[in-house]
Amino acid sequence: MEATVTTTLITGIAELVTHADADSINEAETATLTNAALIIADDRIAWTGPATQAPPADTRVDLNGRAVIPGFVDSHAHLIFAGDRAQEFAARMTGTPYSAGGIRTTVAATRAADDETLRANLKRLTTEMLRQGTTTVECKSGYGLTVEDEARALKLAREQVEAVTYLGAHVIPAEYQHDPDAYVDLVKGDMLDSCAPYADYADVFCERGAFTEDQAREILTAARAKGLDVRLHANQLGPGPGVQLAVELGAASADHCTFLNDEDVEALAGSQTVATLLPGVEFSTRSPYPDARRLIAAGATVALATDCNPGSCYTDSMPFCIALAVREMRMSPAEALWAATAGGARALRRDDIGHLGVGARADFAVLDAPSFLHLAYRPGVPLVHRVWKNGTPAAC
Ligand code: NIG
Ligand code: FE
Repeated sequence: MEATVTTTLITGIAELVTHADADSINEAETATLTNAALIIADDRIAWTGPATQAPPADTRVDLNGRAVIPGFVDSHAHLIFAGDRAQEFAARMTGTPYSAGGIRTTVAATRAADDETLRANLKRLTTEMLRQGTTTVECKSGYGLTVEDEARALKLAREQVEAVTYLGAHVIPAEYQHDPDAYVDLVKGDMLDSCAPYADYADVFCERGAFTEDQAREILTAARAKGLDVRLHANQLGPGPGVQLAVELGAASADHCTFLNDEDVEALAGSQTVATLLPGVEFSTRSPYPDARRLIAAGATVALATDCNPGSCYTDSMPFCIALAVREMRMSPAEALWAATAGGARALRRDDIGHLGVGARADFAVLDAPSFLHLAYRPGVPLVHRVWKNGTPAAC
């Protein structure tokens, strides 16, 4: 007997953004339909089009003139941690510069926390994210930095998020300060062996004060040999080799991209590596923003993500990052939305999310607004009316 498929017709959509035909950020402007409808069959999008042409379905939901957008894909976040660093933020706002070393404060708090504390903190954050329209989350380890604590972080992340990244190479922990090479050996040896079964990707913070180009190459090459895809924190705090290394390794994504030279932009534009911009970090560390226009003009694929973490950027709001991208990086609202959805999906090498084309997973956000433009036009306003994930309204 054939399994029964349940279909739902969603009507009353003042504006529908599908990104179905927007294969690159340069096509982002073309992707809206007004007075639209969509049909969900089980957990997938089965049809989208003008409301007047909608075929019948088993049930019907009227959105009364709201906009619908693909669920946000937050492709960069650090969510397994304990405590916060509010004092460090306050000091930064009055002049103390951000440094990679603050990570060690969170490492100490995270190691001391029990599983239940970490699990509850992750739940709190992923719930906040869902409420703000994020339907796919990537989460990194990186505040454990021992074999046991890194594996624990990844196992806990796996319970609640879809994309999990091993970041044993976040910073050299205090106990290895005298012998960084020994720590690199651990990260690409025993720690990788224990962590690989729980992770999809490996990442390295390739930056002065963290890991060098050679160390990053060794770690990511070892991770790939264990079946993990790779990504990199690159060119965040100053110019450096991270972006070139990401392209050399065919990484899924080079994240931050704040300080780029012409060769870096060219390398990204000629590659499959996504440039993931994290403007919440520049906002929260009072730093210059990445040059999004230059990347887009060169033909690079650009994603937007939050980088939610207790140090450099403690926001998990994709709408806020979209507003920053538009106001501070001069992306158009359509480009910013594409980067926060389809761009994030590409950064995770996924083609079933980040758009609402037929066959995509039915993950979308309904806005208390007639157009997606309001995401940037009304910054800080909770505009997400309801979120649908896997074809059903999410409880959040
Ligand atoms: O992406 N760059 C490295 N990691 C985080 C910062 C983490 C922290 O300060 O705790 C980032 O900005
Ligand atoms: Fe990060």
